[in-house]
Amino acid sequence: MSTATARANANIAFIKYWGNTDNDLRLPVNSSISMNLDGLHAQTTVTWDDGLEADTFALNGKAHFGEALRRVSRHLDVLRQRLNIEARARVESSNNFPTGAGIASSAAAFAALTVAGVAAAGAALTERELTTIARLGSGSASRSVPTGFVEWHAGSTHDESFAESFAPPDYWDIVDVIAVVSQQHKQVGSSAGHHSALTSDLQAARVAGAEQRFETCRRTILERDFAAFADVVEHDSNLMHAVMMTSRPPLFYWLPPTLTIMEQVRQWRAEGLRVCYTLDAGPNVHCICVRDDAEQVSQRLHAISDVLDVRLARPGAGATIINI
Ligand code: PMV
Repeated sequence: MSTATARANANIAFIKYWGNTDNDLRLPVNSSISMNLDGLHAQTTVTWDDGLEADTFALNGKAHFGEALRRVSRHLDVLRQRLNIEARARVESSNNFPTGAGIASSAAAFAALTVAGVAAAGAALTERELTTIARLGSGSASRSVPTGFVEWHAGSTHDESFAESFAPPDYWDIVDVIAVVSQQHKQVGSSAGHHSALTSDLQAARVAGAEQRFETCRRTILERDFAAFADVVEHDSNLMHAVMMTSRPPLFYWLPPTLTIMEQVRQWRAEGLRVCYTLDAGPNVHCICVRDDAEQVSQRLHAISDVLDVRLARPGAGATIINI
């Protein structure tokens, strides 16, 4: 029996991943960029146990069966094959943020599962390979393995589709002020959404400009140019949601307060606050702002009646082993 615990932060994408060229390998149609979210983490313990007859999975203390367990088990199969082991595993995971509501819980979960599973087997793989394995569980999980500001290269093979850090967490003092407007689990998960992305006439146009937005976003982060960053980040989020809304069947992740907050953020920026919005596959609004304006943004969000909670996250570290 061998065990290890790892922790991985969620991440927020500034240039979005939406749609695959290969659904099984989760090879994305475009490269993406994100920032890890300090303190919004999944913590996962993996115990490989020869005495177990089947994998088990508990999330936040509750045993899970059905599709959730199958997805974890499929990822354990990948690890078993790569590490040459046959034992089944006990997986115990906990999140300290709402699951399935636009804070990428699957990213943190599969990054932590990958790093804990490999460490528990006593193996040492390169960070690059860990990102490719995490990707097989959930595409965005590849970006939660490296530290700080991360780029995921789309690539066209399993080995080429990897993520790496391009700036450490302390490189740029920006904050993700997250307006939580729903804590419900989303109706349509992102895997199904990736599969239907091409049914939108707009996906081809989104993908055509993605490389240029990727370069612009990367440069604005490295130059700490907030105005240009805000412009490309909001545009990229709007493009992804336009694809979602025009897919068949359509995916509407926004709720009425989502739109209210997006309008407010644009207004606040016009008044001089350095803030912009971005949304993943859920209704919660990630308000990205420079540190000096974060308190002000947080207060203004609290004053909006439909906002249930406000969470602040600074740029975070990559996945780490905390116990072995
Ligand atoms: O990793 P997945 O399959 O949960 O997809 C994540 C998709 C978005 O969060 C909407 C965008 C992104 O790049 O994180």
